[in-house]
Formats: sequence, structure tokens, C-alpha cells
Amino acid sequence: MSERIICLIIGYAFGLIQTSYIYSKANGVDIRKMGSGNAGTTNALRTMGAKAGVITLLGDVFKCVLAVLVTWLLFRNSHPSLFPLLKIWTAAGVILGHDFPFYMKFKGGKGIAATAGMVLSFGDWRLLVLAIICFFGFFLVTHYVSLGSIFLSIGFFAGMLVFCILGHYSMTQPHLTEMCVLTAVLAALNIWQHRANIQRLVAGNERKTYLTKKSDQ
Ligand code: G3P
Repeated sequence: MSERIICLIIGYAFGLIQTSYIYSKANGVDIRKMGSGNAGTTNALRTMGAKAGVITLLGDVFKCVLAVLVTWLLFRNSHPSLFPLLKIWTAAGVILGHDFPFYMKFKGGKGIAATAGMVLSFGDWRLLVLAIICFFGFFLVTHYVSLGSIFLSIGFFAGMLVFCILGHYSMTQPHLTEMCVLTAVLAALNIWQHRANIQRLVAGNERKTYLTKKSDQ
């Protein structure tokens, strides 16, 4: 159990690196007081431009990849067969740190770039492709990043569940179950973080984001 808690703590520490907040402060503004107020890639892109969006995306994805690298270095010898599960515990810490940073009064982002980092660092290309298809499938058709984000999380969980049932990961049944439950909880958290977006989607006034022209403010 202690290795899970260590992964969670290391992940939380990396999750505290709020790329969009740091970028905005470095440019004399505060991302939390602009656009949707969300400290994430979409709002950085929307309010500060493409460079800010790309830097935020890369920073928030790779803080998760880096956190997983650190826990891999720590546990690769002692817990090699448990490591797929420990990656998810580490990513859970990153998402919690990103969404609820203590130094921002626990109001951070919505955890989607960190979730993309989890998908990337989990290292199963089939889940990566599935997550990409889910995100871009919904985003490119509707121009709602929030919808793509929600379905990225659901797609990763659904793929994980199917692959665990099909026996693609060589861990014991309790560990497979734990990994699926944890992934489901993270998907549920991501959806909860998008509750305001969901309300706007239902009301028909969610902001659209375009890659080739100025986004709705
Ligand atoms: O992941 C965040 C994105 O899905 C929505 O961001 O700023 O439109 O609330 P925003």
C-alpha cells in the first residue's frame, strides 16, 4: 500500500506545476481571471494565444509523464509487475495536484492534459489511439473541447476495462480490478470538473474552439 501512497504524493507534487497559471503570471495576468477562468490549455489558447496554449498543453502533459518516470525509477526493481497500476496511481496524484493545488486555494484546472499524460505514459498504443480518436472525434465535429475532453476520459476507461477483461495486462485479478476502478474514478472526476461545461452544453451556450480562427470568448 505504501508504494501507492508514495506514487500519489509524487504525482500530486508534479501536478502542482500549473503551466497556464505560471505562464499567465509571467506575462502579468492571471489565467483564473480570464475567459472561462480555468487554468488549462483551452483557456490559455483562448485568452493568451496559440503559443500559450501549446506551452500549457506540453507542460501539463509532460508533468504527468515526468512524474511516472520518477516513480518508475523508484519502483521498477521492487514492483516491476505492479507498475501499470502504479502508473495510474501516479497519474491520479498528478490530476489531483492539477485540479486542486493547495496554493491556489484548491482551484486549478480540469485535469485533461494531465489525463492525456496518463494515457501517454501508460504506454499501451491501442489506448492512446482510442483516446485520440475519442477526443478529436468529438472536438473536430462539434468544436467543443469539453466534449472531446469528457469522451477522452470515458474512452480511456472503457478501453482499459475491455483490455483488462481480455487479459492484456499480466497482473493479478485484484490489481486489474483496482486499476479499472481507479481509472473509472478519474474519469468521473474529469466529468465532475466539467459540470459547468455540461450545463452550458445542455443550454446551448458552451464556448466553441476553432483551430483555424479566433475562438468564442
Ligand atoms: O479541459 C478543459 C476543457 O475541456 C474546457 O475548458 O476553459 O472551456 O472550460 P474551458
